[in-house]
Amino acid sequence: MDLKPIELVDTYDRAFPYLRLSITDICNFRCEYCLPDGYKGSGKPNFLSLDEIRRLVTAFAELGVWKIRLTGGEPSVRKDFNEIIDLISHVPGISNTAFTTNGYRLAKNAKSWFEAGMRNLNVSIDSLDRQMFHKITGHDRLPDVLAGIEQALTIGYDSVKVNVVLLKGYNDTALEDYLDYIQKRPVTVRFIELMQTGDNLTYFKKRHLSADVIRDQLLDRGWTQNIRVNGAGPAVNFTHPDYQGAIGLIAPYSKDFCLGCNRLRITATGDLRLCLFGDIGIPLRDLLQHDDQKAELQIRVMKQLDYKKSSHFLAQGETGLIPNLSSTGG
Ligand code: GTP
Ligand code: 5AD
Ligand code: SF4
Repeated sequence: MDLKPIELVDTYDRAFPYLRLSITDICNFRCEYCLPDGYKGSGKPNFLSLDEIRRLVTAFAELGVWKIRLTGGEPSVRKDFNEIIDLISHVPGISNTAFTTNGYRLAKNAKSWFEAGMRNLNVSIDSLDRQMFHKITGHDRLPDVLAGIEQALTIGYDSVKVNVVLLKGYNDTALEDYLDYIQKRPVTVRFIELMQTGDNLTYFKKRHLSADVIRDQLLDRGWTQNIRVNGAGPAVNFTHPDYQGAIGLIAPYSKDFCLGCNRLRITATGDLRLCLFGDIGIPLRDLLQHDDQKAELQIRVMKQLDYKKSSHFLAQGETGLIPNLSSTGG
C-alpha cells in the first residue's frame, strides 16, 4: 500500500489516519440508549453535499488519512449513499472504506454497496433474541439484519463486525449466543460499554456494566487476548482456536483507553470533533465551498490538533457536546 506520511499528529504524538464521517444524524431505529423516542429533526436537514464530502475527504487524504468510516445516524438512509461510497473509495490515498449501520437495509443492498466500493461493515445487534432485539431497538428486524450479514459474508466484504452495547439485565448473560454465532462465521463481535451521553443519564445508571464481566467469562472459557497491533482501534480482541470469529471489548471507561486514539470525527454538517466527547466543534463547512480552499482547510485542521486533549473525561460525567451518539456517529 502506498501511504502518505501522516501529517495529522497531536501534542501527545498520536497520529490520525482514520476519519469518522457522519453523513446524516437521521436514524429510523429507536435504540433505548440512543434515540428512545425516535429521531426528532430540528428543521430541514442540511447535511454535507457530495461536493463538500469530496473536498473534505480529498483534503484529509492528502494529510495522510487512509481510512474513512461513514457513520450516522443511519448512513444508509441517505438517498445518495451509493454515490458517497463511490466517491470516497475513488479518492487517491483512501484504501479502507468502512461504515457502521443498524443493518436494516443490508440484505437488500449489501451487493450494490460492495460494487460501489464499500469493503468493511460494522452492524449493531444488541441481542440475538428476536424479542429482546425488538425491545431494545423498537424494531422487529432481527431476521432481516441477520440475513444481511449472511449476504455480506457471501459477497466477500473484507471485514464484518457486530456491535453489541452491553446492557445490564438485557444481554450480559448472552455471551453463549454470540459464541455460537461466531463459531463458524468469520465475524468479530464487539461488546461495547454503554457510554453516558447528554440525554441518557438515568438509563446509563440503570444499565451500565463494565466489560470486565465478559472478559472474565472469555478467559474462563480459554479465550486468549491478542497483542494490540500498531494503529488498531480501541477494541481489545480475543480469539480461540475452535472459533472462526473473534470477540472484541470496547471499554471507554478503562484506564488508558484514549492512549491509542487514532481517529478524528466530522459531524453531518461539517464540524470537526477532536473527541467523541469533546466540548468543541470546529466548523469546516465554510472551507468546503470551492476546490481552491483546500490548503486553508488543511491548515485549519492541523492547527486544531494542538487542542486535542489526552483523554475524554467520561469518568467525571463530562459528556461534552453530544446529546446521543446518533448526532456524531459514535
Ligand atoms: P473500527 O475499529 O474501524 O472497526 O471502528 P470502531 O469500532 O471504532 O467503529 P464503530 O462505529 O463500530 O464503533 C463501535 C463503538 O466504539 C461505538 O460505540 C463507538 O462510539 C465506540 N468508539 C469508537 N471510537 C471511539 C472513541 O474514539 N472513543 C470512544 N469513547 N468510543 C469510541
Ligand atoms: N454507548 C455505547 N455505544 C453506543 N452506541 C450508540 N449509543 C451508544 C452509547 N450511548 C453504539 C451503537 C453502534 C455504535 C456506532 O455505537 O449501538 O453500534
Ligand atoms: Fe440508530 Fe444507531 Fe442510535 Fe440505534 S444506536 S438509534 S441504530 S443511531
